[in-house]
Amino acid sequence: MLAAGVREIGGPVELFDLPEPAGPGPGEVVVDVEAAGVGNWDDIVRSGAWDVGLTPPTALGVELAGTVVAVGSNVRDFRPGDEVLGHPLPLRHQGCWAQRVVVDAALVVAKPPGVSWETAAAFPVPALTAEQALSEALRVAENETLLVHGAGGTTGGLAVQLAVLRGARVIATAGPASADRVVRAGAAEVVDHRDRSWPDRVREWAGGAGVDTALSAVPGGSADAVRAVREGGRLATITGDRRSAGWGVGFADVYVRPDSGQLTKLSALLGEGRLSLSVGLTMPLDEAAAALDRAVRGGNGGPVVLRTESTKEWPDT
Ligand SMILES: NC(=O)c1ccc[n+]([C@@H]2O[C@H](COP(=O)([O-])OP(=O)(O)OC[C@H]3O[C@@H](n4cnc5c(N)ncnc54)[C@H](OP(=O)(O)O)[C@@H]3O)[C@@H](O)[C@H]2O)c1
Repeated sequence: MLAAGVREIGGPVELFDLPEPAGPGPGEVVVDVEAAGVGNWDDIVRSGAWDVGLTPPTALGVELAGTVVAVGSNVRDFRPGDEVLGHPLPLRHQGCWAQRVVVDAALVVAKPPGVSWETAAAFPVPALTAEQALSEALRVAENETLLVHGAGGTTGGLAVQLAVLRGARVIATAGPASADRVVRAGAAEVVDHRDRSWPDRVREWAGGAGVDTALSAVPGGSADAVRAVREGGRLATITGDRRSAGWGVGFADVYVRPDSGQLTKLSALLGEGRLSLSVGLTMPLDEAAAALDRAVRGGNGGPVVLRTESTKEWPDT
């Protein structure tokens, strides 16, 4: 089967033939991949800085949407034909940029009907990251004020929507191309991140003292974002730029982890139209190297997705 990945850690992304996955073993399902998300985090996997359980040569990719084609023993929640999405880490055998993968059945959830394959594939990592930042790291409560720095991005945009659903009042940073979308996501106010004094404007909006909580989704962004947080407030970063404690602000680093309970609820919100995500760019599996390059460079108007095509039926099991 076709897969896109690396022959060695740090190597270039290539298209190659991999053996069909063996299995499924107990508790596993084989998924015929329809689409797989591409994020700049995949380049972190490619370089070896994020260990997701892969041994080269292997496909990359840590999020997917597809159809279950075989189930192992002890799998009660899924049958062949079920449509699923997931962030199935640690990966088993290979990553999601492949025609088929074997995954832990506990790490995929039902894809809501009516949600496109592309949207479903691009959803798990940013949605889980945003949810874990808000509910676990920041514990954002109703009526609290929240700054989302980098709300023009996929993760930041979902964080705005989730925070509004929690009853928070959200102020966000975004560039001119994204500002309208961030307002539609529910932000009460948007400030342009190109204005270097934006943290002062956020403090003013929050009554002078600063916001209760802040999420930074911008590489190196927490140094600016903390200036907008009130003393005793909380700041979480998803870009690994946590500052040492100071300013009387609590800091947290957030690194996404699979959580099928959270993903089930998030997917339901997506299916009900209470969360939305617009894919920016869809490319075929054989253009995975270019897709990763586009994801790393950004500016695609939304997440990048690979579409796969199946070439043969999964053997009867
Ligand atoms: N820790 C984790 O587990 C985790 C999980 C997911 C993502 N991440 C990281 O989080 C970051 C965001 O991910 P993403 O997928 O949301 O990225 P993305 O969709 O590519 O977001 C890029 C957007 O950020 C905005 N931006 C760029 N520079 C900015 C600045 N100086 N100030 C404010 N906004 C700025 C731009 O929007 P405008 O149009 O508004 O300029 C740009 O379109 C990435 O670095 C990613 O690796 C980490």
